[in-house]
Amino acid sequence: ASAASTLGAAAAESGRYFGAATNSFMLNRQPHATVLNREFNSIVAENEMKWYHTEPNQNQFNFTAGDQLIAHARARGMTVRGHTLVWHAQQPQWAQNMSGTALRNAMINHINRVAGHWRGQIHSWDVVNEAFADGGSGGRRDSNLQRTGNDWIEVAFRTARAADPNAKLCYNDYNTDGINAKSTGIYNMVRDFKARGVPIDCVGLQSHLGTSLDPTYQQNIQRFADLGVDVQITELDIQQGGNQANMYGQVTRACLAVARCTGITVWGVLDPDSWRTGAN
Ligand code: G3I
Repeated sequence: ASAASTLGAAAAESGRYFGAATNSFMLNRQPHATVLNREFNSIVAENEMKWYHTEPNQNQFNFTAGDQLIAHARARGMTVRGHTLVWHAQQPQWAQNMSGTALRNAMINHINRVAGHWRGQIHSWDVVNEAFADGGSGGRRDSNLQRTGNDWIEVAFRTARAADPNAKLCYNDYNTDGINAKSTGIYNMVRDFKARGVPIDCVGLQSHLGTSLDPTYQQNIQRFADLGVDVQITELDIQQGGNQANMYGQVTRACLAVARCTGITVWGVLDPDSWRTGAN
């Protein structure tokens, strides 16, 4: 919470948003709620806007939890990030079992219905999450979505633009925090999208970090910004260790140094709620 105060003050002073991942069932639980409402001006659902949650059975949609988060945010003047329209993980079982044209059409329908339901209420959507492979290839990750054809990402972005024309459309990934083969693969995709007029507005650097920060972190933010997209730090959390507080500072300063780095979101509010249960 004290790191959040410092980060949030810096972000807010500069006009950037400062967000936290949360869940609808935590909105009234203390001390989570007090810290969330006091320190943050943006929220994102840690899980409740994902495919398995919003469309548990094909064409049967569940927007209850997402609606609650949005109502909470709107009542307090907070903005909402949407996470995430399409991802290889946390798909409902019916989609996991699908392939080819049926899956492609299901993806398009999902984006239309979900982005359409929350049209006008989402600051930024993670349209596609984690589609690139780890390691040195710089290529796509294999998945049922990737096997529908390499154009699945641009189809997702075009569909999202039509469904919610005012949301910023982001590509979001991890292990992309410095300049490396994976972030360069994404960089090349964004450059290609901009050249061909495929709608994309932002790149999310998740920033799940260990005990040191890649020295090219700021340079990496800058090179994406130079392509004409915003950069958002979307899932920041840093492993405990001697360098933790210093690293939160480094990340914040790197974002503040780049005009198109428009916001920082931390992945959870309090240690006991973190998905990284082994590390404070
Ligand atoms: O809701 C069920 C509950 O009913 C069941 O009893 C329990 C038993 O395992 O599982 C609960 O679901 C869990 C869900 O979180 C909600 O708590 C899932 O098992 C668990 O896998 C899921 O983990 C989430 C993870 O994404 C899934 O991949 C984490 O909370 C969430 O923080 C994490 O977030 C991801 C981002 O979306 C993308 N970037 C990486 C980030 C961290 O992995």
